[in-house]
Amino acid sequence: MSITNESELIGMQKISEAVALTLKEMKNFAKPGITTKELDDFGAKILNDLGAKSAPYLTYGFPGYTCISVNNEFCHGIPSEKTILKEGDLINIDISAELDGFWSDNGASFVIGEDINQHQNLINASKEILQKAISNIKGGVKISDIGHLMETEAKKRGYKVIKNLTGHGVGRSLHEEPHEIANYRDRFNMQRFKKNSVVAIETFISTTSTIAETLEDGWTMVGNKGGFMAQHEHTIVVTDGKPIIMTEANEIWN
Ligand code: CO
Ligand code: CO
Repeated sequence: MSITNESELIGMQKISEAVALTLKEMKNFAKPGITTKELDDFGAKILNDLGAKSAPYLTYGFPGYTCISVNNEFCHGIPSEKTILKEGDLINIDISAELDGFWSDNGASFVIGEDINQHQNLINASKEILQKAISNIKGGVKISDIGHLMETEAKKRGYKVIKNLTGHGVGRSLHEEPHEIANYRDRFNMQRFKKNSVVAIETFISTTSTIAETLEDGWTMVGNKGGFMAQHEHTIVVTDGKPIIMTEANEIWN
């Protein structure tokens, strides 16, 4: 969507703070010994208390309220009573929701407890790349140039990017124009970022794979060549200068 007045900005701020706070609280709650179902229920209660409705549940009939992906799962992981978090697990939580007709999206990868499996490097790369990408976005910048920047920064750190997962416009629904904000230079994408538009910028930084494939459960995505992936996501408003980071309260950069 494009922000055209004060009330739209306030609407976007409200839902963005809701998803950001939920992500922050879930990140604090995640620890060895709890199941991803318990973690999802905890997040669902926060969203509900804030008056927000889970977007994947509402839009796609996803079997959970937040997407929780662990280790070899890249994204769209289904919260489960069978998945018990362990010390050193790489986890990704992605939360999108709706409130009063406004939609916002954010996500983060992090390690459960001590980093005994050495995932922190990948996570730091993903955080830094998101920061770099967002700080280079303003009205008029080509979407493919930001993709190029993200892939270049990933390669510099010895990582790859996933080609078939992208950031996207957001605001009046979960996925809207521009539909594809890739992590590489998509030379067929001539679109530019527009001032006042709301977009979800997300990284998909991986150790070995370049394509994400859906498992038989119809949701969970894993890498075509295995390995791990880190994702960090903010919903932002594009301006003439630095973007306004709507989901800043998630503190994923801290
Ligand atoms: Co998301
Ligand atoms: Co998204």
